[in-house]
Amino acid sequence: MNNAEIRATTSFQIPPEAKPFPRIVTENELNYKEFSQQPEYVQANRELISNFVKRLPDNFRHVDIATGTGLIPQLIIDEAIKENKTGIIFGIDPNVTSLNMAKINVRGTDKVRVEFIEGMGQDLKQLLKGKIPPEGVDGVGILDALHEIKNDEDKISVVNSMADILKPEGLFVFNSAFTTMGGSKEGMTWGRWKSKAMELFGRKRDRSIQAMPIHSPEEYRKIIENAGLNPVYERLKIVMLTQASLEAISKYPAFSTGVLEDMPGQESIPIVDKCNAMINALRSLDIKGLPRVWDEIIAEKSATIGPSGTIFGK
Ligand SMILES: C[S@@+](CC[C@H](N)C(=O)[O-])C[C@H]1O[C@@H](n2cnc3c(N)ncnc32)[C@H](O)[C@@H]1O
Repeated sequence: MNNAEIRATTSFQIPPEAKPFPRIVTENELNYKEFSQQPEYVQANRELISNFVKRLPDNFRHVDIATGTGLIPQLIIDEAIKENKTGIIFGIDPNVTSLNMAKINVRGTDKVRVEFIEGMGQDLKQLLKGKIPPEGVDGVGILDALHEIKNDEDKISVVNSMADILKPEGLFVFNSAFTTMGGSKEGMTWGRWKSKAMELFGRKRDRSIQAMPIHSPEEYRKIIENAGLNPVYERLKIVMLTQASLEAISKYPAFSTGVLEDMPGQESIPIVDKCNAMINALRSLDIKGLPRVWDEIIAEKSATIGPSGTIFGK
C-alpha cells in the first residue's frame, strides 16, 4: 500500500506531519474478549482464583463484580469442581454486550450455578435483593477492573458496596495490572511503545495534560482496608505478555484510549484509530513481548462491632 492508499483507508484527517499507518482492526473487533483468552492472562487469573476458591467454604455464594465476558466465573467453576465444592456465582457488569457473551460461554453446572446480572458495582445490595441471604455472601471479587472505574469516589463506593454484602470473615479478591507498578519492568519499552503510537499521529506526550490517574498498590490496599477488609494475602506477580497479547490488549478501547490520554487533541481521534496506532507502533518497534506486574490481594472482612458493642462474626 502506498501512502495515499493508506491515508484513504484511515477514518480521520491525519495531520501532514503524521506518518500514515494502515488500519489493521475494524470497530467491531474492539473488545476485551481476545485479551481475556490469552493463555498468560488466563493463567495469571487462574492462579489467584485457585488460591481464593481453596479458602471458600464447601458450599459458597460468590459475587464477581465487573465480570465482563465471564472468564472469572468460569475459573471459579473449574476450581470449585477440582475442590469438590458446590456454590452459586453472580456475575455483575453494566456492559450488556459482554454479559451476553458471558451468558453464552459460561453455563455453570448442577453443582456450581452461575447467574449474570446487568448493573454497577456500586449498587450490589439493590441488584442482589432477594437473591442473597441477609447475613451476606462468602466471597466477592473484582478482577482486572477496579483501575478502570475512573474516579476515586466510585472506586471507593464499589469496594464499600462489595464489603457491605460480604459476611463477617467473608473473603474479597482483587487484582490489577494497572497500578504504578504495572509497567515497572522494562518501563522504557512500555514508554517507547506509547511514544511511537503518538508519533504516528504526529504528536508527543504533553505532561501538563491530566492522564488517567494510576494508583499504587499501597493506595489500593488502603481503599480495601478502609472498607473493613484485612489483607490475608498480597503479592506483586510478573507476567510475561507475548506479542499476541499486546496486540489483543490494544484492541481493548479502555487500554488504548488510556495510554493515549495525555496526547494533545486525542479527544477528536476515533477510538478505532487509537487502537490501530497502538498495534502499528508495536509492530514497527518489533516488540516481541513485555513483562507486566499484577498486584493481587485477598482480604477478609473484619468481625463488625454491633450497636451494643457486641462482636458479630467471631
Ligand atoms: C477489563 S474488563 C475485566 C473483565 C473481567 N473481570 C475479566 O477479567 O475478564 C473491565 C470490566 O469492568 C466493567 N465495569 C466498568 N465500570 C464498572 C462498574 N462501575 N461496576 C461494575 N463493572 C464495571 C466493564 O464493563 C468491563 O466489563
